[in-house]
Amino acid sequence: MAREFTTEITDTVVGSFSGTADPRLRELLGALTRHLHAFVRETRPTTTEWERAIGFLTATGRMCTDTRQEFILLSDVLGVSMLVEALNGHGDPGATESTVLGPFHLTRSPVRELGATIDLVGTGEQCVVSGRVLSRDGTPLPGAVLDVWQADDRGFYDVQQPGVQPPGNGRGLFTADAEGRFRFRTCVPSPYPVPTDGPVGALLGTTGRHPWRPAHIHFIASAEGHAPVTTHIFVADSPYLDSDVVFAVKQSLVQDFAETDDPSLAEEFGVVNPFRHARFDLVLEQA
Ligand code: BEZ
Ligand code: FE
Repeated sequence: MAREFTTEITDTVVGSFSGTADPRLRELLGALTRHLHAFVRETRPTTTEWERAIGFLTATGRMCTDTRQEFILLSDVLGVSMLVEALNGHGDPGATESTVLGPFHLTRSPVRELGATIDLVGTGEQCVVSGRVLSRDGTPLPGAVLDVWQADDRGFYDVQQPGVQPPGNGRGLFTADAEGRFRFRTCVPSPYPVPTDGPVGALLGTTGRHPWRPAHIHFIASAEGHAPVTTHIFVADSPYLDSDVVFAVKQSLVQDFAETDDPSLAEEFGVVNPFRHARFDLVLEQA
């Protein structure tokens, strides 16, 4: 009798959504019900364990504010964000690969001139990031827009340290020039731990996982007639490239921040020689 109930309830709940007008929503709710019930049948949580699970999700929601997104972080450390990315990716090996958005793209990046710095503090090692935005066939994309954000040299985003970092530190919105070129100055980013003062941090601690991300800079590149890409570049000599807590490293996104000793280039870029220089192109697929 009990066994019958435990299977019948799944069909009953799936059936309860049959009046959902939107067929995709009906499909998603049906699959969610079936998978969730299968998880419960497989793991047989006690009522105390289930209450703990609800308590964990409640705490995750309570941790969310305008500047803190604990549910995105949960999705990230469970590898779900990367799975969604992978299943929605373009799959075109010639275009720049995508990776997670992350929880810190929360504010509008300030518009900046090409060549400007996004490092408003100036405590880190300076570097130049430059390249071109190209279409898949190599055509430059003048007017392409690059939204850029990164943590400071101590591993914190501006939104994590209001009153310590100026708003907009580590962020910039750039428009590529007539040849699709972009360049900006910044500090070499550092590896940083994802926030560990909430339920996701507790999950990592309890399971013996480290919370670190390798050093990276975020980009969203967009251009007319092309699919936008949300991605990072990772610093080639950074620790944690092999064990990113959110599973977001793709080899094609790892870039050298090369030690560069070139006084005339330093002058052109407005940096002190020698400096570190990351050069790479962003390639967009046609929409
Ligand atoms: C980030 O790179 O900003 C990030 C991504 C996933 C989780 C936490 C932080
Ligand atoms: Fe980040």
